[in-house]
Amino acid sequence: MQIQLNKLSEKPLSPEVGLVVGTRPSIVMFAPLIHKMRERKIPHFVIHTGQHFSPSMDSAFFQDLELPQPDYKLEGVSENKTHGSQTAAMLQGVEKILLQRLPCFFLVGGDANTNLAAALAARKLHINIGHIEAGERSFDKRMPEEHNRIMIDHISDFLFATNENSIKNLKNEGLTSHVFLTGNPIVDATLRHYELTKKNAEILRELNLEPNRYLLLTTHREENVDTVANLRGSLQGVQDFAAQKSLPVIFPAHPRTLKRIDEFGLNDWLKDLDHIKVIEPQGYLNFLELLASAKLVFTDSGGVQQEAAIHKVPAVTLRDNTEWIETLDLGANQLAGCNPERILASGNEMISKERNWPTPFGDGSTSDQIADIANEVIGHYSAS
Ligand code: UD1
Ligand code: UDP
Repeated sequence: MQIQLNKLSEKPLSPEVGLVVGTRPSIVMFAPLIHKMRERKIPHFVIHTGQHFSPSMDSAFFQDLELPQPDYKLEGVSENKTHGSQTAAMLQGVEKILLQRLPCFFLVGGDANTNLAAALAARKLHINIGHIEAGERSFDKRMPEEHNRIMIDHISDFLFATNENSIKNLKNEGLTSHVFLTGNPIVDATLRHYELTKKNAEILRELNLEPNRYLLLTTHREENVDTVANLRGSLQGVQDFAAQKSLPVIFPAHPRTLKRIDEFGLNDWLKDLDHIKVIEPQGYLNFLELLASAKLVFTDSGGVQQEAAIHKVPAVTLRDNTEWIETLDLGANQLAGCNPERILASGNEMISKERNWPTPFGDGSTSDQIADIANEVIGHYSAS
């Protein structure tokens, strides 16, 4: 592969790769790449922004995914309560580290504030940026993730796209240079770790569940859970469906969702939704086991929509749009928003789906491909 680089930095960049994690899905996404970098002895370091911090959202993932501790961890980020202050704290913190290390290549993945802050810090220092999961669009400007991903794509030097649809979205915004069709590292992660799950996860036994005899629910999107009508509508719809089918619903609840339920005074109301069993957010192995053995999943999560398609579990997405439109085209997923009637109708349609769709996110070699490119970039800086 021949890579052209605009060497903009006046300071010599160091022949190493920086990677940034900070939220639960980013730890999952980067885990296989960090393992590859270690196996292939590619010089690298990992920054954790501290955006997610509860053990069940953070350290549980380092443990389950067998990751070493990050080389740097920002302090105090979680004290910031607004998008602006959280992003600013991470921008400042990441910049300090990048000023010390000046890596020649910096990898960010996905669309959380962590990634925007990190990419911006690197851009200002003329460090080459690679964006994993480039070109995803929901075309929903209410979503903080939509602003973030657009901005990150436009300030990155290397765009790692999941599939042709992502490339089309990039092209529509004039982004055609250094676009690589790599697939998505979530395939690498979920396949690599599912084997471990089969050996280690005890969760079905602990919760007294039989495979294929329960439903799974996750919801945490700002547009859904920060609005009382949407939060109530989606939980009511899932309860109604579960009652109709006489199936329990396992609901590993995100901390944002629990906070909103509390603030809206919905704790007693939720207790009356007798089919829904709220549990702690689960580590990756338990969650994969819960997902892969579920009859159907209700979710507003990006990663869970993808993993459901990969493990051939039908999904009903509690949103009116998705960046993973391939899952809709393949019949693996249906959009139902937060309206109870639509959720009931979609649940009924999806529950009897034949689970024979192909996987639309790559073949599990994404991390290797990105590691190859990282090696090439390093080569340019080792020689100079
Ligand atoms: C963030 C991402 C979202 C991603 C999600 C993955 C942005 C704008 N949003 O949303 O794209 O889908 O992560 O889960 O970056 N909290 C805890 N403990 C934690 C994490 C969060 O208590 O470990 C609380 C925070 O204090 C805050 C709320 O949950 O009150 C929301 O956290 P935040 O990181 O701002 O956004 P997420 O909703 O997690
Ligand atoms: N996940 C998990 N435990 C849970 C819920 C989710 O391990 O209790 C994993 C899930 O398998 C996926 C990732 O977290 O890999 C998705 O994260 P999340 O839904 O928080 O964020 P999104 O993908 O929507 O950005």
